[in-house]
Amino acid sequence: MGYQVIIPAAGSGRRMGAGQNKLLLKVAGAPIIVHTLRVFESDSDCKRIILAVKPEEREEFERLVKEAGFKKIGAYVQGGGERQDSVREGLSATDGDGVVVIHDGARPFVTADLIKRVVQTAETWGAAIAAVPVKDTIKKVISDQVKETVNRESLWAAQTPQAFRRDLIIRAHQWALENKRTATDDASLVEAMGEAVRIVQGDDRNIKITTRNDLLMAEFIIKTEMRENANAHRTRV
Ligand code: C5P
Repeated sequence: MGYQVIIPAAGSGRRMGAGQNKLLLKVAGAPIIVHTLRVFESDSDCKRIILAVKPEEREEFERLVKEAGFKKIGAYVQGGGERQDSVREGLSATDGDGVVVIHDGARPFVTADLIKRVVQTAETWGAAIAAVPVKDTIKKVISDQVKETVNRESLWAAQTPQAFRRDLIIRAHQWALENKRTATDDASLVEAMGEAVRIVQGDDRNIKITTRNDLLMAEFIIKTEMRENANAHRTRV
């Protein structure tokens, strides 16, 4: 085992309405991106982190990385107009064989355990993603009118981490570029080429911070985790 990870962090945070990159907003005293990076920095299986950032924000990210004392950032690449462009740039900075993990900077609650399960599944099958079964009833709606209620039995919400054999994900992104295909996650490109993608049970806490409300949720999750850790410590001593 041992993987390299690409973290796209070049979004604009439009849906957050903060007027700045949402990953620089603080949750429990630290910017969201610092929480995310810390998980990979502490994971001994993570060999190298490739961070995709906007050129005008690079200095800010470098400062945060230095302050936090993170040592695994192997490359900064220039984030593109779409997430897919940012990941493709990240791929150009990967090397060697083995598995490449892709994880959104906006999901700070990923755990080493979930990463391990996704990586192991990708090592066996070539491509694996974290996902959770859909809990709500899903309607297909056109012009404010319900067209269909979709049977949710086979519906899963995709998360990151997503992990792939390096050659496969490079081929998928190249294929997408040549065929002008766009997608909101990387597995979709692998699927579109007709290759299999395996599911790993994700975690409801592994939310993507997108809106103001998610920030409140994030504060709550961090406080809960701190309490849980403190309790675990108390029962140990
Ligand atoms: O906007 P959304 O939250 O779906 O973006 C997912 C991740 O992709 C975020 O971490 C964001 O910073 C990143 N992203 C990027 N380049 C873009 C758009 C989004 O790196 N052009």
